[in-house]
Amino acid sequence: MGVLQTAKGIRVITTIGEIKEVITKVKRQGKTIGFVPTMGYLHEGHLTLMRKAAAKTDFVVASIFVNPLQFGVGEDFEEYPRDLERDVRLAESAGVSLIFAPGVAEMYPDGYGTTVEVTRLTDRLCGRSRPGHFRGVTTVVTKLFNIIEPDIAFFGQKDAQQAVVLRKMAADLNMNLEIEIVPIVREPDGLAMSSRNKYLDPEERKAALVLSKALLLAKNLINSGARNTADLKREVTGFIGREPKARIDYVDILSFPGLEEIENVSGQVIIALAVFIGDTRLIDNVVLEVD
Ligand code: PAJ
Repeated sequence: MGVLQTAKGIRVITTIGEIKEVITKVKRQGKTIGFVPTMGYLHEGHLTLMRKAAAKTDFVVASIFVNPLQFGVGEDFEEYPRDLERDVRLAESAGVSLIFAPGVAEMYPDGYGTTVEVTRLTDRLCGRSRPGHFRGVTTVVTKLFNIIEPDIAFFGQKDAQQAVVLRKMAADLNMNLEIEIVPIVREPDGLAMSSRNKYLDPEERKAALVLSKALLLAKNLINSGARNTADLKREVTGFIGREPKARIDYVDILSFPGLEEIENVSGQVIIALAVFIGDTRLIDNVVLEVD
């Protein structure tokens, strides 16, 4: 059975055929569709995207799909936290009308053979450490866009590279929708919210603060006049290096949204980090306007 209905009326649909029927009806009513793709295990970051979508569009669809195509060998596809019942309740409270939660075979049936790839923007930052990751993201998001046909899709700046890659894909492939990027939602102590924070034990949770603190350090250095990216990267790397539980994947400072290498910070720039805390890989970033 593909349709579940909760008491309050949010629907959870697991098949492409059924969700397309609902979308056709909603569109026939002249309603605009907001779309929030997720991998579930929802937190306040996801819910902020959903509330934003509810404020801006008439009918909000969220997808919950842990996409195997964007996980590399040895990554956490199997362990990735899942709790559909809780997600449905939370999404409903954030104004979502419909949840699309397909299984892997529904999205990638036997014989599936097409991928979508954005070049250049994907060969740096997370693209370098996670080969094939963005191809998995752009492929699944293209499929989801074709299924849901949203007017506006909402993504978080937490995954800033993902957001600019998806904007580029939508522009290059003439996709008929807007992509809105929503600021990072943080825990009160500064840690960027992430479904993967669940993996951290109490000691690692404390150590994980090194990411947001390192970004703050870089921001303060820039505010007091530092401009050379190599010097800034050295300071940030040194700071993270003093946390024994942290192992740096990358520290980078690039132009934004072009993600070009720069010798000195000026204009809009992104400071982006990926750091392992124990076995858990966390990312964080800040986008600054520098004169
Ligand atoms: P997921 O990690 O579940 O994130 C879903 C959306 O929530 C993404 O747009 C992400 O940037 C946003 N998000 C996550 N944490 C956030 C935070 N702390 N503040 C603001 N936004 C936050 O990103 C994915 O799933 C997948 O790659 C997906 C796009 C669904 C494709 O599979």
